[in-house]
Amino acid sequence: MIELKELELAVRFLREGKLVAIPTETVYGLAADAENPGAVAMIYTAKHRPVNHPLIVHVADAQALESWASEVPPAARALADAFWPGPLTMILKRSSRAKDFVTGGQDTVALRCPSHPDTHELLKLFGAGKGNGLAAPSANSFGKISPTTAIHVKEDLGLKAEGGSVDLILDGGSCEVGIESTILDLTGTEPRILREGAITSEMISRVLEQNVLSGVTKASPRVSGSLKSHYAPDHPLEVVDSEELIKRTQFLARHFKTFGIIAPVKIADRFRPVSEKSFGYEDSKDLAKNLYEWMHQLDKLDIDKIFVLAPEYSPDSAGVLDRLKRASAKKD
Ligand code: TXA
Ligand code: MG
Repeated sequence: MIELKELELAVRFLREGKLVAIPTETVYGLAADAENPGAVAMIYTAKHRPVNHPLIVHVADAQALESWASEVPPAARALADAFWPGPLTMILKRSSRAKDFVTGGQDTVALRCPSHPDTHELLKLFGAGKGNGLAAPSANSFGKISPTTAIHVKEDLGLKAEGGSVDLILDGGSCEVGIESTILDLTGTEPRILREGAITSEMISRVLEQNVLSGVTKASPRVSGSLKSHYAPDHPLEVVDSEELIKRTQFLARHFKTFGIIAPVKIADRFRPVSEKSFGYEDSKDLAKNLYEWMHQLDKLDIDKIFVLAPEYSPDSAGVLDRLKRASAKKD
């Protein structure tokens, strides 16, 4: 647990308009007071993020919904009851509290109450009761891999004192879920998932007793996480099945090329002698938890390629499969 003294320092920094990197159960966030335009502007500068990409407002509890949204439909309340604190972000019609500088000028706002105990405590100190929120995108440069440890943040954005852009990095260990929250748009006639995550369409459907749509449409609000190429390592990454893995690696080896592998444990073990580095996962949850850490590690090696043997599709694996699809998309 992070000491109270450090959390209090973080609160002071946030009130002064500074940037604090916070651990969440999904990935680390780069937080600023969601009502301070100067501080929020610094988030965009630090990340080199296009300014029309809206930010998620993180709140301490479901009571903050009324304060940030102009309409709180029964579905939002039911989902907050079921999944908050936790990795679910809900898009609702914004109230006047959610200004253009945080919503990217859209008339909606993204709200999430994270479950990481340190950040939950921080949010309570920062403003439970008043509904104060922290605007926080993932704490990585735009287009880079999301951070799942404090070290990732330090290496990418860096501390201001050391020439970087973050005033304070709270170290809350490595993130349990490992991929970003599920984003659910509740502003249409039917609920729609804009980004898959640990809270699956089935789980949402069960609570709402209603079908849940999936995928971004032309009418959907802007989500940078829905860009075709995103969440990608610097090395080319290819998703393959086991037959292709054998063929592709033999071909590369014949041409003196090197590669790293992410695969189910048994297969990863078998490829350990022929690859530069081979990571094994138990199941899709384990893969999600470790994927970004492994990508970070593989990017540090001098290799030509990363191969990933992905798990079968299931509601549980939808989130990590979505990230792999984007990580392997051609960058254009
Ligand atoms: O797990 C997460 O959601 C992490 C942690 C830090 O909470 N945050 C995160 O933030 O992934 P970011 O900014 O990297 O991704 C949030 C996505 C963006 O693609 C953004 O466009 C979308 O949420 N978003 C934010 N506000 C929105 C809105 N009003 N309408 C539609 N999409 C929105
Ligand atoms: Mg991000």
